[in-house]
Amino acid sequence: MQILGIESSCDETAVAIYSEGQGIRAHLVFNKLEVHAAFGGVVPELAARDHIRYLITLIDKALNQAGLNKNELDAIAYTKGPGLIGSLLVGVSVARSLGFALNIPTLGVHHLEAHLMVVMLSDPQPTYPFLALLISGGHTMLLEVRALSDYRLLGETLDDAVGEAFDKTARLLGLDYPGGAALAALAEKGQAGRFHLTRPMLNKPGLEFSFSGLKTQVMNLLRQQSELNEQTRADIAYAFQDSAVDTLIIKCERAIKQTGIQQLVMVGGVSANQRLRAELKQRLTAEVYYPSPDLCTDNGAMVAYLGYLRLKEGQQDSGLEIQAKARWKIFDI
Ligand code: KG4
Ligand code: ZN
Repeated sequence: MQILGIESSCDETAVAIYSEGQGIRAHLVFNKLEVHAAFGGVVPELAARDHIRYLITLIDKALNQAGLNKNELDAIAYTKGPGLIGSLLVGVSVARSLGFALNIPTLGVHHLEAHLMVVMLSDPQPTYPFLALLISGGHTMLLEVRALSDYRLLGETLDDAVGEAFDKTARLLGLDYPGGAALAALAEKGQAGRFHLTRPMLNKPGLEFSFSGLKTQVMNLLRQQSELNEQTRADIAYAFQDSAVDTLIIKCERAIKQTGIQQLVMVGGVSANQRLRAELKQRLTAEVYYPSPDLCTDNGAMVAYLGYLRLKEGQQDSGLEIQAKARWKIFDI
């Protein structure tokens, strides 16, 4: 079974081919960050125009990479949501039209569920049930994963996602969008202990998060500085990362204690953070699993793989409907 996966929920145009028995046979991500960096964030209209421009070419390249003819595809999976509606619609339209032309099934999948389930391609892989910390630019959630499609929300952010907080703080420190990785790099040069930011929501029980106050603390700290040299910026970046990482870990510790589950999966762009990875490993009693780095950020392989799991269960699109969901909760799948 050869499945083409199409991801176009935000600014990356990504395509992959997953093959039963052979794994990922093609994997291409086209990123146009420089288009958006000048605006300090993703411009939805520009992202959608670029998907139109590059998606078909990328599909051709993926088929080439896999050494397959399009007639050898058995199904097409695409991201149906959540995401930017204009961008999603490009992927949905191409996937459904191609599926119709080739007379093969198509299936729309949930972007976050794809981020989550791709961990099953890692070696070793977790076994059900496991905890999942889903941390991206748009989401921060702790889930109990009992099986495919069986998720229990343990806690989520009440305001900014942690990736969003990294990006907003990075911007305050004069770093380009998306600033998460650049902020982490700057923090490496920072000194521990010069600044201390409070850990949000730790005085309350439960597993909810809140990150917008952290960004405000940084803003206040910046205002208080008479001189903002490179070392001070690095020290502030250090304090921000320290507080964000500590908060995430404390909530994970609580989730482990509350559920008794001793496996934790970490997915989403922020899971690339090295400090978070190192501290999780050091501090948690649970076994921690991540997808490989190229499968952590937005990609088509996660879409193809989740499509494969669901198509195997007999799911597929019906009729001629072209539907994308800008907002879509993982529990409403
Ligand atoms: O999952 P993702 O690629 O895209 C979605 O949001 O769906 O996550 C992107 C987020 C951005 O906020 C980015 O700044 C953040 O992940 N990020 C990081 C790091 N690398 C990417 N945040 C902290 N440390 C990093 N090393
Ligand atoms: Zn994503």
